[in-house]
Amino acid sequence: MPFYITTPIYYVNDVPHIGHAYTTIACDILSRFQKLNNQDVFFLSGTDEHGQKVEKAALNSSTTSKKFVDQMSENFKKLIPFLGCEINDFIRTTEKRHIEGVQFFWQKLKKNNQIYLSNYEGWYSIRDEAFYVESDLIKDGNDYKTSSGSTVEWVKEKSYFFKLSKWQDKLIEYYENNPELISPKSRYNEVLSFIKGGLKDLSISRTTFSWGVPVPEDKEHVMYVWIDALCNYITALGYPNKENSSFNRYWPGVHIVGKDILRFHAVYWPAFLMAAELDPPKKIFAHGWWTNEGNKISKSLGNVIDPYSIIKEYGLDQIRYFLFREIPFGNDGDFSKNAISKRVNADLSNNYGNLVQRISTFIIKNCNGRINQTLNFNKVDNKLIKLFEEKFKNYHEQMSIQQIDKALRSIFDLLSETNVYVDSQAPWTLIKTDKERMKVVLFLICNIIIKSTIMLLPVITESSTKVLKIFNYNFDCISFNNFNKLLDHDIEISNPKPIFPRINL
Ligand code: MSP
Repeated sequence: MPFYITTPIYYVNDVPHIGHAYTTIACDILSRFQKLNNQDVFFLSGTDEHGQKVEKAALNSSTTSKKFVDQMSENFKKLIPFLGCEINDFIRTTEKRHIEGVQFFWQKLKKNNQIYLSNYEGWYSIRDEAFYVESDLIKDGNDYKTSSGSTVEWVKEKSYFFKLSKWQDKLIEYYENNPELISPKSRYNEVLSFIKGGLKDLSISRTTFSWGVPVPEDKEHVMYVWIDALCNYITALGYPNKENSSFNRYWPGVHIVGKDILRFHAVYWPAFLMAAELDPPKKIFAHGWWTNEGNKISKSLGNVIDPYSIIKEYGLDQIRYFLFREIPFGNDGDFSKNAISKRVNADLSNNYGNLVQRISTFIIKNCNGRINQTLNFNKVDNKLIKLFEEKFKNYHEQMSIQQIDKALRSIFDLLSETNVYVDSQAPWTLIKTDKERMKVVLFLICNIIIKSTIMLLPVITESSTKVLKIFNYNFDCISFNNFNKLLDHDIEISNPKPIFPRINL
């Protein structure tokens, strides 16, 4: 089955930070999970390069807008492999394929009588690239600000409008019939009550600057950056080419976005798509925001977390794991070095790493690195096997609904119980008293280690790969098909090495 997953496309007005890395890694985890389910995955990321915010940043640089966006986009592109993420395509909104696709989309909306020309007069925030009504704003002396602190300016210009108001009832009906389309539930409720509060037609073109996609047949206007940006999800798939195209195969997709941009994705985007007679997205998941040691992350506070330096300091898998285990996916979270160290030491070093290390070195030392396959399990063993089946089921269910932290918790509960089993069965004692029983115990522990490692593969990809190599696991066999079945071959271990050294607190 095709599975299409997207990150938001990142504004190139600034360099990437941990917030951007977070969304990209989330998509990578979910994409790798679906690959293990044998799905045909298409994972897209890219950069949002038009609009006033980017134009302003380009003007402040000493180069042309084109050169500026080329350089800045490269920073986002380069970050992806550094984060251990594997994408299928990277789209830039300044590419020809995108511009042509958006212009086609615009014409389709026009043909369907969804667009009209009028005048816009109201507040606009360049930082948010969004229009505001006065009741959304907070008075700040003589000025107004948004609730998140963005400044706004009064705009008065000719503009094309999209007939968003016409889609209010359709959107309500659509979401009421499909409540699982927006997650978490609280965000779904928020979107639905926003739509029920009334939708106004949306200004979708600007005339006071020129860094945007030209509106077809009206050179005075460029498109509003959000209609341009949202279309990346389909232009990257080859839209408007529908026959035999990736568009045909992969659309509709799953969008992972931050809570700040949910409204654009869950209100405007489905309405645009329905108006162009296309399917709305399959799912929109809104994640929360990270703060840094309790403070909002912002350039002016000088506390922006650079993904390169934090990964160099703690390790890639350590950061990937921390980001997705520490807080429920969907909630806000606080990034603190103390929390990273505690989390890594407790889970990755003690619970998982130690288990792998002590079992693999024990087998090398005492069994020549080899444990034969067996089925001679007793009651205690069967209890652990049952627990594994339950935890895998739970892991699978949670990952399928993007609850990455809960899925990880299932694996670590299983590993904790496995550690208890190791201590109670004590293979180091059995070697003296009952060698046959020792082999059964070790075979079962190796099975649980291998299965847990495969479950961890989407999150801590590099380290899981290393562990599977230590256990000489055949990578061609990796899939969640028949996952409950224990290994039907002997286990061979080579070159055990420590994988998660403890971080000194
Ligand atoms: N260009 C738009 C998206 C267009 S998609 C059609 C945009 N870009 S952005 O670069 O400003 O933000 C991209 C993503 O980074 C958003 O999902 C946003 O929520 C996320 N984050 C930015 N700062 C963040 C944190 N401090 N914490 C978590 N995520 C954050 O919006």
